[in-house]
Amino acid sequence: MFSKDAPKDVKTPRIAAEVWHNGEFIKWDEARVHVMAHVLHYGSSVFEGIRCYKTARGPAVFRLREHMRRLLNSAKIYRMDHDWTLDELCAASVDLVRRSELEQCYLRPIIFRGFGTFGVNPFPNPLECYIGAWDWGKYLGEEAIEHGIDVCVSSWNRLSPNSMPVMAKSGANYMNSQLIKMEALVNGFAEGIALDDRGFVSEGSGENIFLVHDGKVMTPPLSSSILPGITRDSVIEICRELEIPVVEQGIQRAALYVSDELFFTGTAAEVTPIRTVDRITIGDGRRGKITERIQQRFFEITAGTRPAPGNWLTYVRTEETDEKVSVNYAAAMD
Ligand SMILES: Cc1ncc(COP(=O)(O)O)c(C=O)c1O
Repeated sequence: MFSKDAPKDVKTPRIAAEVWHNGEFIKWDEARVHVMAHVLHYGSSVFEGIRCYKTARGPAVFRLREHMRRLLNSAKIYRMDHDWTLDELCAASVDLVRRSELEQCYLRPIIFRGFGTFGVNPFPNPLECYIGAWDWGKYLGEEAIEHGIDVCVSSWNRLSPNSMPVMAKSGANYMNSQLIKMEALVNGFAEGIALDDRGFVSEGSGENIFLVHDGKVMTPPLSSSILPGITRDSVIEICRELEIPVVEQGIQRAALYVSDELFFTGTAAEVTPIRTVDRITIGDGRRGKITERIQQRFFEITAGTRPAPGNWLTYVRTEETDEKVSVNYAAAMD
């Protein structure tokens, strides 16, 4: 009734048979929570989405430590006192992919408050940590990567920084994302772009956004209520490597319509061109030249066929792992 003929999600071809839970591997079917768990009623979860790519040297997890660092930061913001360490969570992810025998997958670590007692106060409830994995296709469709997608500006604003911390990747933030996504889908768009509480461009329901104007790449700063995206950081690094000027700056809604190129970035969306916004054609209505260069470099790096600007790939079978965590989370100001 409310969903009209909204498109279904992407296909899920294979799911890992095991899930990592609080330090051990359990069967997928045994990964269950009680219906009275705090998280179900009050949204008390933080999570990550990480891609593991197929390469000639076997599966390789993209920017694993940066993702796990963000997970731990999200947990810290929500005063989740736990003992899981960065090293342990990274090792667990590598083990999970290895045991799953998947060539490529999407990893979903989550920390949440389970069932302990009733009421809003989160502290009495036990913390649980799980990591699941499945093979996921292109989030916005196979076609989207080449031809781009049609999007709208949402009537829903992104969360203001003093109502919900957007820097934290919390489950509750995705109620806002769901409103943006549903509105877009029922109106025939693939995705929605939300403005921040001042009216500046913020991000998609699950993606950061980039604009190209006169050969210069721009993206909203952290102060525009965005999630500090790891793909966003990767694209900024790639632009520097390609000597394409890139700046973080406040962007007016109207600047979207008159941009030469637009694209989304995200773990799920990777680098996805946008061809129309509110039915206004962007550039010549197809993937732009700069978007294509960035996209191509991104896919070469994730396929392991070109060295990354940093140690971005953790090879699961060879046990090579990175030590470098380079996303600048502190830069939350204009
Ligand atoms: C709201 C939101 N913004 C941006 C992103 C992109 O972040 P990342 O590149 O780290 O996946 C995501 C995806 O996780 C997201 O959900």
